[in-house]
Amino acid sequence: MSDIDSLLHEDRRFAPDPDFAAQAVAGSELYDRAKADRLGFWADQARELLHWSTPFTQTLDWNNAPFARWFADGRLNVSYNCLDRHVEAGQGDRVAIHWEGEPGDSRSLTYAELTAEVKRAANALTSLGVRHGDRVAIYLPMIPEAVVAMLAVARLGAVHSVVFGGFSAESLRSRIDDANAKVVITADGGWRKGKVFPLKPAVDAALADGKTSVESVLVVKRGENVVDWTDGRDRWWHDELAAAAAEHEAQPFEAENPLFILYTSGTTGKPKGILHTSGGYLTQAAFTHKAVFDLKPETDVFWCTADVGWVTGHSYVVYGPLANGATQVMYEGTPDTPHPGRWWELIEKYKVSILYTAPTAIRTFMKLGREHPQKFDLSSLRVLGSVGEPINPEAWIWYRDIIGGGKTPVVDTWWQTETGAIMVSALPGVTTTKPGSAQVPLPGISVDVLDENAKPVGLGSGGLLVVTEPWPAMLRGIWGDPERFIETYWEKFDFEGSPNRRMYLAGDGARLDEDGDVWVLGRVDDVMNVSGHRLSTMEIESALVSHPIVAEAAVVGASDENTGQAVVAFVILRAKQAEAQTSEEASAILRAWVAEQIGAIARPRQILIVSELPKTRSGKIMRRLLRDVAEGREIGDTTTLADTSVMSVITDTLK
Ligand code: PRX
Repeated sequence: MSDIDSLLHEDRRFAPDPDFAAQAVAGSELYDRAKADRLGFWADQARELLHWSTPFTQTLDWNNAPFARWFADGRLNVSYNCLDRHVEAGQGDRVAIHWEGEPGDSRSLTYAELTAEVKRAANALTSLGVRHGDRVAIYLPMIPEAVVAMLAVARLGAVHSVVFGGFSAESLRSRIDDANAKVVITADGGWRKGKVFPLKPAVDAALADGKTSVESVLVVKRGENVVDWTDGRDRWWHDELAAAAAEHEAQPFEAENPLFILYTSGTTGKPKGILHTSGGYLTQAAFTHKAVFDLKPETDVFWCTADVGWVTGHSYVVYGPLANGATQVMYEGTPDTPHPGRWWELIEKYKVSILYTAPTAIRTFMKLGREHPQKFDLSSLRVLGSVGEPINPEAWIWYRDIIGGGKTPVVDTWWQTETGAIMVSALPGVTTTKPGSAQVPLPGISVDVLDENAKPVGLGSGGLLVVTEPWPAMLRGIWGDPERFIETYWEKFDFEGSPNRRMYLAGDGARLDEDGDVWVLGRVDDVMNVSGHRLSTMEIESALVSHPIVAEAAVVGASDENTGQAVVAFVILRAKQAEAQTSEEASAILRAWVAEQIGAIARPRQILIVSELPKTRSGKIMRRLLRDVAEGREIGDTTTLADTSVMSVITDTLK
C-alpha cells in the first residue's frame, strides 16, 4: 500500500439504523428517479419545494454553455417563498429563528414576525431608491437583521452582496466598488469574544474619498458603540423601519433573476464575485437542506454555525431552512465565550436536533476535552453535518461519539461557494457512512475524478474533481467578468465540437476509493483553506508587497493540526529595513498589516524573514520547497532551482 492509500484507508462503517431509516425523508428511490431522468427529478423538486407565480415549462437551457438557465420561463419571489407562504399556510406562529446574542440576550422570531420585519425593511429600502437589479452590500454581525436585510433585498428583486464582518475596510471597499453597491447595511458593532467589535468605522473608511456608488448607509444598533455620522448618507435602521409601511406585496421575478453576489478567493489577487440566481439556487438549497439533514420542519431544530458572510450561511442559515419552513438557532458569538461549553449549552437550551459545523471547530472541541459537552444534555441531536474542509476520521468519530452519543449519522458535505449548495454527501438513513469520505454525489448531481487528459481515473486513484452535468444551484458567472468565469472553471475540460459537454473544474484534488466513494484531498490551485475559510496565496502576497518595508514575498499554506492549513509567509525586506529592524519586529508589523489589509482571518501564523526565495530558471517561486520549510520537513528535490544553494541559505537564516 502506498502512503496515500494507507492514509485514506478506512475500515469503519456505520450502516443506517433501521428505525431511523424507516422514518427518513430520503430513500434510495431518489437516486433511481434522478438516474432515470435527471432533469425530471430537478423539475419535480422545484415544483414540490417552491411556490411559482408562473410555472416553468422548460427545466434547463444549456445551449449557451457554460451559461446555464434553469426553469427560465418560470417566475417566483424568493422572499415570498421563505416567508409569506408559510404564514399563509397557517405556520405563522412557528419560530423561524431562535437568536442568541453572545452576552446572553436572546430573541425568538416567528415566521409571522420575520415576515413583518422583512416587509418593513423592503419598504425602507424602496424609499432609499433600491430597485430591481440594484446591488446592496451587507456588512453585519450574526444578528437577525442580517437575515432580514438579505430577504428584504431579495424581495425587491435586488442583489445582495454580503461581506463577512471580519473583513477589513479595504476588502469591503473593493467589494462595494466591484458590485457598484447603492446601499450598505451595517451595524454600530457586534459581540465577539466578550467585546464589541466595530463595523461602522470600516464602512466610513471604505467610503471616505467620496468616489463611491453608495448613496445611503443603514446602521443597525447592536453594540452601543459611538459612531461617526455622515448626514444625508447615514440612517438608523430602526428609524427607517419604524417609518416604513407595514404592508409589502412581493412581486414575482424571473427564475434567472440575480439573487446574490458572494466574493471568494481565487488564484489571482482579486476576489471573484460569484453570481447566483433565484429559482435553481433556491430549489437545490431547499432540496439539500431537507434530504441531507433529514429535515422534519414541524419538529426539528436546526443549527448551522456558519456566519452569513460565507456561502454556508447563505444556503443553510437563510435560504434552505427558511424555504423549508424550519426552526433554527442563530448564534452571534464565538464558541468559547463566556465558557467553553457555550455551544452545548445552546443545544440543550433549544433542543437542537440537527447540527451543521466545520471540522476546525470539532478539532478545537476535541482539544478542549469531552468534559465540556458532557456537562450538557445533547440527547436531542439526531443528525450531525460537517463542511468546509476534509474531516479527519478521528474528528469524525469523536463528533459521532461525544456529540452524537454514538448514534447519530454524520454527513460530510462537499460543496463550494460556486456550487451554491451541497453536491457530494451521504444521505442519513440511506447511506452507510464512512469516516473521512464525503462519499457520493447527491441524486441529480454527477461528478467524476479525471486525470490531466480528461480520462476518468477509476476506482482507487486520484485526480481532479469535476462536475460533469449542470446543476440547478450552479454559479451563473463571475460578476462583470465572463472571460474569467470560462477560463477558471470551464476551459480545462472543454470538448471541442461539443460545447455542451463542458465539465466544471472544482479546483479540488480527489480520490475514488475501492467502493467508488469520493475523498476530497484539498485544493490543487493557489487557494488555501484556513479553518474552512478560503484564502488566496496571491492576495496575501499582494498585501505584503504593498508594504514599504517589503521587497518580495511568497506565501504558502502549511498543514496545521488545528486550522487544517495555516498561512506562512516568506518575506525579503528592503535592504535599509533589513538593517534597521529585527526579524521579530518586521514580522509583527507585517502580520498586523495583512490583518488590516484583508482581515484577521488572513493574518499569517508565521512570517519568516529571509534573504532569498527559491526560484526556477524562469523566475517562478517554488512554493513546494517553502512548504517543506514551513512544515519542518526535509527539503524536497531542488534540481530545477536556478540557484540550488538557495534552500540552504534560507534554512541557515531561519536557524
Ligand atoms: O477545498 C474544498 C473545501 O472548501 C472549498 C470551498 O470553499 P468555499 O467556497 O469557501 O465553501 C466552503 C463551504 C461550502 C472546496 O473547494 N471543502 C468544502 N467542503 C469540503 C471541502 N473539502 C473537503 N471536504 C468537504 N466536505
